[in-house]
Amino acid sequence: MSEQYVKAIEEVLSKVEKNIITYEEQFPHTSNDKVYELNPNDNWTNGFWVGILWQVYEYSGNLLFKHSADEKTDQMINRLDQNRDLDTHDIGFLYIPSTGAKWQLEKDIEAKSKTIAAADRLMQRYREHIGIIQAWGPPNDPEQGGRIIIDCLMNIPLLFWASEVTNDNKYREAAIAFADTARRYLVRGDDSTYHTFYFDQETGQPIRGATQQGYSDGSTWTRGQAWAIYGFALAYRYTKNRLYLETSLRTAKYFINQLPDNLIAHWDFDVPLDKNIKPDSSASAIAACGFHELLDWLDKNSKEYKLLYSTLVKSMDTLISEYATEEGSQGFIDHGSYSVREGKSPDDYVIWGDYFYLEALLRLETNKRGYWYETN
Ligand code: GLY
Repeated sequence: MSEQYVKAIEEVLSKVEKNIITYEEQFPHTSNDKVYELNPNDNWTNGFWVGILWQVYEYSGNLLFKHSADEKTDQMINRLDQNRDLDTHDIGFLYIPSTGAKWQLEKDIEAKSKTIAAADRLMQRYREHIGIIQAWGPPNDPEQGGRIIIDCLMNIPLLFWASEVTNDNKYREAAIAFADTARRYLVRGDDSTYHTFYFDQETGQPIRGATQQGYSDGSTWTRGQAWAIYGFALAYRYTKNRLYLETSLRTAKYFINQLPDNLIAHWDFDVPLDKNIKPDSSASAIAACGFHELLDWLDKNSKEYKLLYSTLVKSMDTLISEYATEEGSQGFIDHGSYSVREGKSPDDYVIWGDYFYLEALLRLETNKRGYWYETN
């Protein structure tokens, strides 16, 4: 047990207790002037607040947290039943930490069947003839129809999981097709990554890499690189295909090699360095979870294990000592960025940063791993 991690987790618990009262039936997304902008459950990020609630309940056993997690999970179920605001690849982000978590913790049958229904919703975006999961927009959209996004590597665990619980291989086949396409086209020869990639939606011919939130089309948006580290590690967990493990490790080493001295990533690795460059603490929190996930498969005496472990511990030390917020703040860590290039919350609280910071603390302190796969 580490006193430092326990203290950081306890600080999160007390913020969550206050936030439950402030947010009521709303959901936090990103902040402006240190106050979370709330929404009624129409964004891609809503699962993270629910996942925070399930994690603090799992850690503490406090029924106040369970009550709130149940209420929020019901709101997520309503959204699914009404098919509201689900025209996105982000279905895994929405339903793994909400209904998926409830199934894992409570063995609640409705939560399980809704999580499978969420996987079915994600399958509607699978374009089998070209092996992609369409990121955004309706089918056949002239601009978005053949476009993929690296973030989706964190949504395919929903498909892997659905195959395991239904014994229907179709979900797994889609997840593998996407992971293979992502590996081939989003990961570049030097182990950096494109954020998104366009294909001809009829023939599958590759067209070009492009960014959405990064500095430029050819740059490496650090959160995208972190999604790749963690996403390929999870794909390895489900498939045991060593290519995914190697890709996760290669992208992890690239990430580590580009970090500044304090080991907290800037928002893009290719932004010209100057004193005003902004960090993205959420990229480092996500990467920390990915490093921890990878450690399971590495020899403790290997150079790679030592590199990942020391980066994990040192970067979490920095997040705790320099990025964690003061008592009474809504966010758990500061200096995340949503989309610097679009001027959207460029240096703020971001709810996924809070989620992965807590997941990383719990991984280190209790060896719990969020809800991306079942552990029992
Ligand atoms: N999935 C969108 C983002 O990471 O900002």
